[in-house]
Amino acid sequence: MSLSIPEITLNDGLTLPVIGFGTYRLNGNPGVNAINSAIDLGYRLIDTAYNYENEGTVGEAVRRSSIPRDQLRITSKLPGRYQEYDKAVTTIQESLYRANLDYYDLYLIHWPNPKQDNYVEAWQALIDAKKWGLIRSIGVCNFLPEHIDRLNKETGVKPSINQIELHPYFNQEEQRKWHEENNITTESWSPLVRANEVLQNETLRNIARDHNKTISQVILRWHYQLGTIPIPKSSSPKRQLENISIFNFSLNETELSTIAELTRPDGRMKNQDPAIYEEF
Ligand SMILES: NC(=O)c1ccc[n+]([C@@H]2O[C@H](COP(=O)([O-])OP(=O)(O)OC[C@H]3O[C@@H](n4cnc5c(N)ncnc54)[C@H](OP(=O)(O)O)[C@@H]3O)[C@@H](O)[C@H]2O)c1
Repeated sequence: MSLSIPEITLNDGLTLPVIGFGTYRLNGNPGVNAINSAIDLGYRLIDTAYNYENEGTVGEAVRRSSIPRDQLRITSKLPGRYQEYDKAVTTIQESLYRANLDYYDLYLIHWPNPKQDNYVEAWQALIDAKKWGLIRSIGVCNFLPEHIDRLNKETGVKPSINQIELHPYFNQEEQRKWHEENNITTESWSPLVRANEVLQNETLRNIARDHNKTISQVILRWHYQLGTIPIPKSSSPKRQLENISIFNFSLNETELSTIAELTRPDGRMKNQDPAIYEEF
């Protein structure tokens, strides 16, 4: 059984499904099997990163899949330690060699690392790699509006996507609005808060019960109705299917407002504020 997932179009014309598949901690043969199961179920957008050490696993799953390469959307990310222009270029090439792919559909700068202050030259490397055909669409992760403004001012090129921590405990209302005004698509990482106690939350449980759905499904439907692309990770085919079975119900305005009340200013899972936090 394969579910059909609706698609949206990014500001540069690339189409993406409205829900994707996270792969953090899916490595080796079990990882290939989990990713192949996800693709068989209907996932087409797969999220990896140089730092997850599993671009090879993702590439192998793509090769073993019966779905043509041009129907898949594979994302990878540039780590902080390789943001200088020349290093960024060779890292993008290395990412492709690791996956044994000819191109990535999306390539993102993983963190802005503002103290290091190299993200504009990293961005220039992504712009050039797109011109060379190594990447179809370029974006960022964890960038604040001020970081994106600088990319735009210094290179004239805006990201197609900003992938940020976003879940019911940290709903990023302001940043989402800013993305909308600037025609940038929001992708949500850790959309299920890594299945922490959110999956016992009473407010969400009541909403889930009313729809005869699970809490995970309510959360993922909420992402969809906000207009963000969640990329839940699951090693289990059963939970992978659960997570994309969200297109046959709808949350009403009252339910959306109730979920909005769960957000907290300190709701980030690990206090990773991109203005300060750096990752290499
Ligand atoms: N750009 C960034 O800085 C950044 C940072 C973090 C993550 N990411 C990306 O975002 C992806 C998703 O985030 P994440 O992996 O941190 O967290 P997540 O997707 O919110 O949660 C994953 C956890 O939830 C469990 N789970 C999944 N579906 C479930 C369900 N229906 N019921 C119960 N448990 C369920 C999984 O366990 P099982 O595997 O056992 O199902 C796993 O432990 C990552 O894999 C990665 O690709 C990006």
